[in-house]
Amino acid sequence: MLRRFLDLADLSDDRLEAVLARARRLERSRTSPALAGKVVGLVFMNPSLRTLASMQAGVAQLGGSTFTISPGAGSWKLETRPGAVMDGDAAEHIREAIPVLGQYADALAVRCFARGVDLEEDLADGVIRAMAELSPVPFVNLESAAAHPCQALGDWKTLDDLEVPRRGGRFVLSWVWHPRGLPFAVPASTVAMAARRGMHVTVLRPDGYALPEPVMTRARALAAASGGEVVETADREAALAGAHVVYAKSWAAPSRYGQTGESELRAGLRHWRVEESWFAPAAPGAKFMHCLPVRRNVKVTDEVLDGPRSVVVRQAGNRLHAQKALLLEMLTEEGA
Ligand code: CP
Repeated sequence: MLRRFLDLADLSDDRLEAVLARARRLERSRTSPALAGKVVGLVFMNPSLRTLASMQAGVAQLGGSTFTISPGAGSWKLETRPGAVMDGDAAEHIREAIPVLGQYADALAVRCFARGVDLEEDLADGVIRAMAELSPVPFVNLESAAAHPCQALGDWKTLDDLEVPRRGGRFVLSWVWHPRGLPFAVPASTVAMAARRGMHVTVLRPDGYALPEPVMTRARALAAASGGEVVETADREAALAGAHVVYAKSWAAPSRYGQTGESELRAGLRHWRVEESWFAPAAPGAKFMHCLPVRRNVKVTDEVLDGPRSVVVRQAGNRLHAQKALLLEMLTEEGA
């Protein structure tokens, strides 16, 4: 039985296909008693709309229940650093909190974003890995410093639903402007997902915003194994030629990660906002994807977001079906 889901790579190809198939069945038939009597503990160190609501709703639809802990907002603020001298805000350490919560639940699912100070540290994803090690029960990553695997799983299903070709499908992950430098969890998981799906993946980004080399190296290795390809460019016209999907996301400049100078690098890049004109060289009916939340008319125009290309609401819906299928894989014999 799968005990940890920290990254999409934790699902073998066979298991991934089985989870996607189960997600499709659960979309057609939403309720079941499969998790009756089971409790899933949700720990949200950071805000959420979709992940929180879809986990709570999904477990309830499967006959189980959840409790939700928001450290620092109604429960003790949690320290995550090993060896910390805890004379600051945090009254409790994950070393106690996770094993304690694990006694009350059949699975734990945790959101814990990047600290945004040290790129190498965040890409190593040590905090979520430490929590998974501490958990006595199956453990799900609901977005960590370096990965958002539930998003990637839901997005894979969305691409399948839309019949975007796996082999030969052209997927563009485009950097877009945002008021601050964001971490790499979503872009890293997205580029890996599309590469593993066998697609031709283009990372479109301005100079200075290449994804960190470990993220690209991994994506290229996944593409090599699946028959896909991963390239990067700052040339929008070339990137969008024949594209089936444009997936918008913002991320920090790796060379300025955690530094105040990062905002200066971004200052002249506000025109990196998805507009309808971007799609002129794309394939007919090309889709627009975003994990949400999205800043309207900053990252993408109303015209695109409200138009027929946008599948962002469908993506969010697939979070529910995909996570339910994942939980059955992790918590039931049928799923094993
Ligand atoms: N996409 C996503 O994870 O949304 P939330 O941050 O609202 O959970």
